[in-house]
Amino acid sequence: MDLRGRSFLKESDFTPAEWLGLIDLAAQLKAETAAGQEPQRLTGKSIALIFEKTSTRTRCAFEVAAFQQGAHTTYLDPSSSQIGHKESVADTARVLGRFYDGIEFRGDLQTHVEELAEHSGVPVFNGLTDSWHPTQMLADALTIREHTGKPFNQVVHAYLGDGRFNTGRSLLVSSAMLGMDVRIVAPPAYQPDAEAVQIAQSFAAQTGARITITDDVEAGVAGADVISTDVWVSMGEPKSVWNSRVEDLRDYQVNTRVMELTGNPDAIFMHCLPAFHDLETAVGRQVFEATGMHALEVTDEVFSSRQSVVFDQAENRMHTIKAVMVAMLT
Ligand code: CP
Repeated sequence: MDLRGRSFLKESDFTPAEWLGLIDLAAQLKAETAAGQEPQRLTGKSIALIFEKTSTRTRCAFEVAAFQQGAHTTYLDPSSSQIGHKESVADTARVLGRFYDGIEFRGDLQTHVEELAEHSGVPVFNGLTDSWHPTQMLADALTIREHTGKPFNQVVHAYLGDGRFNTGRSLLVSSAMLGMDVRIVAPPAYQPDAEAVQIAQSFAAQTGARITITDDVEAGVAGADVISTDVWVSMGEPKSVWNSRVEDLRDYQVNTRVMELTGNPDAIFMHCLPAFHDLETAVGRQVFEATGMHALEVTDEVFSSRQSVVFDQAENRMHTIKAVMVAMLT
């Protein structure tokens, strides 16, 4: 696998073999870190981290992975750079490409991350747009392999909730690239768009993946090895949508009944985080006051259960982001 000089913009820019190769590389790098024998492959490299939106995992994963590999990072938040306000994305790309060996971008528009890649002349890494969340998908895949112990083409992966945004769309495509039996379980209005389904179907024709889009929770989760979900209101959506969203998706909450409906006592629970599973957040309390729900997309019982692997999944953000930088910058 030679991905040197390539950008990491969305899953479908890669072949299934390349996607698998990145997961394998992440596993190798994770083992090196655990053994305390990590060659520094990014010494002397500089990487710009542009975050137009908030982040805990993605930012920290890029910073720690770069540090462990000997690279330097610069963090640019929306208020401390000119991007978008006084300078176009294309001009920003032309400037940063003179200083940096790679650029990470998190923001609303996929066109912006694509423009950065087009004009900077250096590899660009998508840290989340409204359309795709590809670094998350590598972490999810590594976690699934570690915890199910199954080859990807024997894994049944069901995603419950809002399937229209970056995580649901990316999960559908990545799972298809890996040959899984992937089910998006959501009300009709919350199912993925035709473009995402078509991309997934075209990968499924190569990998043997099975794709189901359904609003039937019982059928959708039967036999699942993995149950995934995400927040019900995505970054950038107005607060005013919370009440209607809770009404629309309350039947798709991951709770003990859903985990039991899998019929698989070893089924794992995954969530890219952050999660609204209790009242320990300001948003969680506001929604509780408006709706009376103590938890939203997942109950605390499931989130805190032995089946939950969410913190291993979060750790794997770092190992997989490291793999992306190593593969594309060396
Ligand atoms: N899952 C994820 O992208 O986390 P952050 O928003 O904290 O980066």
